[in-house]
Amino acid sequence: MTSAVLMDGKAKAAQLAAVITADAAALYSSSGVRPGLAVVIVGEDPASQVYVRNKKRTAESCGFHSVQHTLAAETSQQELLRLIESLNNDTGIHGILVQLPLPKHLDELAVTQSIVPEKDVDGFHFQNIGKLAAGHAADTFVPCTPAGCMRLIADQLGSDLSGLNAAIIGRSNIVGKPMASLLLQANATVTICHSRTRDLPGIARRADILVAAIGRPNMVQGDWIKPGAVVVDVGINRIDVDVDGERKSMLTGDVDFASAVRVAKAITPVPGGVGPMTIMMLMSNTLTSARLAASRR
Ligand code: GUN
Repeated sequence: MTSAVLMDGKAKAAQLAAVITADAAALYSSSGVRPGLAVVIVGEDPASQVYVRNKKRTAESCGFHSVQHTLAAETSQQELLRLIESLNNDTGIHGILVQLPLPKHLDELAVTQSIVPEKDVDGFHFQNIGKLAAGHAADTFVPCTPAGCMRLIADQLGSDLSGLNAAIIGRSNIVGKPMASLLLQANATVTICHSRTRDLPGIARRADILVAAIGRPNMVQGDWIKPGAVVVDVGINRIDVDVDGERKSMLTGDVDFASAVRVAKAITPVPGGVGPMTIMMLMSNTLTSARLAASRR
């Protein structure tokens, strides 16, 4: 029985962290600019709290100036916008990230668009989305999860995906749509699938590169996968399982790993695949922003 290569995002992120840490130190000694990242979280969503803690910790370990703003779930739109405005004007901050999702009473779109494009290390501002969609990925902040996925894909297939079919399951603004832009820019032939797509397994089976970003545990089965495909699992789903009669909580992806690993050429594990790469791309974007700020002084 063959088994896919594991795309070890954790190991790759650790390698990138070493480079980013050295580059941040070099920037500081040449310009006095230390990359600064502000992460804002509103409310008590447990998964978001874990993500934000990891982002802050990683920024600190890269030698960045790292601040976290933890706001109550009842925070008003005006209060949040006021905080973002102060961060927009703070010369020690080069990247601003407001963790999504926000509580229902807040206007996510207005919030993401209030971050100045120069500090939009999430790549959610329309100006940055537009640049990416127009094929200028090198000249904008690319959303972190798709950027991380592309690095993992390039390790397997190189950076020119000419002639390859890519299918993305999920059409979100955070993952599916920017992922499509990046794959297209790398010359892949791209299909975006979603809940209204007819014959999802059939489309998936034609894909040399399959990206699953749906948020449904183990939805993509091994028999949806083209033999030899590169499979990137973006899903992080918490599920309860029975282990020796005990209920245990565990993380699982959108891909049924056990069946997929027998068919794919390469596959990301969950956890330890895309997740660590997402965080490292945030560090990379923040470093880029700090470098640009230093060059403007
Ligand atoms: N929530 C889930 N993924 C992300 C992300 O990449 N950025 C932000 N800001 N929130 C998220």
